[in-house]
Amino acid sequence: MFQNLKAQPADKILTLMQAYRDDPRDNKIDLGVGVYKNAEGITPVMRAVKAAEHRLWKEQVTKAYTGLAGDPAYSDAMISLVLGDAVARENVAAAATPGGTGACRQAFELIQMANPDARVFVSNPTWPNHLSILSYLGIETIAYRYFDDETRAVDFGGMLEDLGAARAGDVVLLHGCCHNPTGANLNAVEWQAVIDLLNEKGLIPMVDIAYQGFGDGLEEDATATRMVASQVPECLIAASCSKNFGIYRERTGLLMAVSQDRSQHGLNQGTLAFLNRQNFSFPPDHGARLVTMILSDDALRTEWAAELEEVRLSMLDLRKSLADELQRLSGSDRFAFLAQHRGMFSRLGTTPEMVEKLRADYGIYMIGDSRMNIAGLNAQTVPVLAKAIIDAGI
Ligand code: LMR
Repeated sequence: MFQNLKAQPADKILTLMQAYRDDPRDNKIDLGVGVYKNAEGITPVMRAVKAAEHRLWKEQVTKAYTGLAGDPAYSDAMISLVLGDAVARENVAAAATPGGTGACRQAFELIQMANPDARVFVSNPTWPNHLSILSYLGIETIAYRYFDDETRAVDFGGMLEDLGAARAGDVVLLHGCCHNPTGANLNAVEWQAVIDLLNEKGLIPMVDIAYQGFGDGLEEDATATRMVASQVPECLIAASCSKNFGIYRERTGLLMAVSQDRSQHGLNQGTLAFLNRQNFSFPPDHGARLVTMILSDDALRTEWAAELEEVRLSMLDLRKSLADELQRLSGSDRFAFLAQHRGMFSRLGTTPEMVEKLRADYGIYMIGDSRMNIAGLNAQTVPVLAKAIIDAGI
């Protein structure tokens, strides 16, 4: 049997992560995988998470199964964090999933169950694992224009034109904030135009929101998702706690199926539970429980939000100092987009050959499409990266 297996395409983010680990150079710089690092290069356990873990260790008396959709208190807390009061709770079916990836996977399976003819429109570019899972499931994808290589901003005209070719029942995958991999995002007016188009053409949005709190703030980053959820007849939302709670390895996500038609609720909720049962049965609980504790305790929530804000502001500082340093070295504004992008990533907009040169000659690791994890920088490495970019001739 095993001899029939075929080697599968390697994930470029994880391959780069391993290459970085294997590089013996002391001065190497990791701008690859999307993991936050503080100025000391550490991915810390957030203060509120540590406090919640401590409390959990003292107070938890059982590790018996929760429910197929996870603890309802977790869904309540996360729905409120992501959607605020944009949608009534009764309109949202939800299930805990292993991370945001698990939420995406379950969402794609639900789409396939509900409408095998649906095609999924994806931004060009999008997170590579979106494409990998969709292709694995045999779901047809169609790329819509998103990133303008010249301006390093959103090619909004191209995006609308390409979405205009979708047919009723197709799904449009959107990044709720902090677009991965580009860092370029729609403004509120553009979001509204996209929502109008979705409604006009009968398209179903699926919003992937994995970086809430990393862009313009916790509430601000949820605005677009809330606009979508409150204005379309139905949508899917995949949320992740990996980054904003710093609990990457705990695999903590939530899939939401929002429907304006409340009579759908039971069916939607039952389907999410069924899909969990087929794929992994009960979702992981530890991270979800910490998130629930933090979001429902005033002191822990305040502590968490304050630390998240420190993280967000430090990334903005890094963006600004990198853009300033590149402005100083190049004598031009051609890198000003780095300060305008939001979230963990920016696409530098250079060739794979240049990316390889940065890796080979300077020990700087970024994804082949020139996606940089801004949080991989610090005050010492910003000038090193800026100089390498200019010296390499980018
Ligand atoms: C990333 O884009 O680097 C992260 O979302 C990690 C991953 O799983 O790819």
